[in-house]
Amino acid sequence: MIRKRLIISFLIALAGISIPLQAAEEREPFDDRYCTTCHGADGRGNYGVQAPRLAGMEDWYLIRQLENFRAGIRGVHPRDIEGIAMRPMAAKLTDESITDIVDWVGSWEYLPTEVTVEGDAAAGAQLYSQCATCHGADGQGNEALGAPALRGQNDWYLVTQLRNFKQGWRGSDAQDSYGQQMMAMVQMLADDDTINNVVSYINTLGRN
Ligand code: HEC
Ligand code: HEC
Repeated sequence: MIRKRLIISFLIALAGISIPLQAAEEREPFDDRYCTTCHGADGRGNYGVQAPRLAGMEDWYLIRQLENFRAGIRGVHPRDIEGIAMRPMAAKLTDESITDIVDWVGSWEYLPTEVTVEGDAAAGAQLYSQCATCHGADGQGNEALGAPALRGQNDWYLVTQLRNFKQGWRGSDAQDSYGQQMMAMVQMLADDDTINNVVSYINTLGRN
């Protein structure tokens, strides 16, 4: 009797395990399209949850960041609160889901972001001449160097990321070679005012 009960509970446990396993196998890539919950309708960005604009993001940059979050080389520093919120969202993505997401994000219409940061754009322009080496004179990005476009991104997000690089909350992982490059570059921005100045200049480079 005891043995039978054991077998039954074993079978129930097995069924309990096999259901989610089966569901995982059958999961379609579009099951992972929960991104807009935080990144806003059509990926326009959402200040409230500090999730940046995804619409218009370069394919290669989007893929690399999703892979970095998934691999745990970004979004792991205990002080990187926003990165920690993002990381589990990428942890469950398969390569197939990432390909699907890139197509999906690519279909979104880019809508200009609002200007929210105030700073001295003229002072920022001088600083930006060094950033331009990698990010392009118009902030358009440079795939060969792995440096993403900056223009058109939410300005509050650029500020947070520059602060995070400066503190070593982003880019300090030994495997994050691109993040490490940026962490070194950001040291030329002395303080929050300097960061606001350079971001104010980036705001003048066009909104897309
Ligand atoms: C729970 C809210 C939430 C969900 C859901 C979410 N994200 Fe995020 N995501 C964030 C936050 C917050 C950040 C900012 C973290 C950071 O960059 O440090 C972020 C950052 C990112 C970045 C980095 C952008 C950059 O410029 O470096 C990418 C790419 C991204 N998310 C893509 C996605 C995709 C694709 C999905 C859906 C599979 C998704 N996110 C789902 C909250 C979320
Ligand atoms: C040596 C090349 C190089 C220079 C110079 C450089 N960057 Fe970067 N930057 C990068 C790379 C590479 C990345 C991508 C890091 C990653 O993959 O996480 C990056 C990322 C960024 C990001 C994060 C964007 C996002 O969407 O998450 C910001 C903001 C940024 N850079 C601003 C600047 C500013 C401002 C300057 C000048 C003070 C600058 N960069 C100079 C290479 C550079």
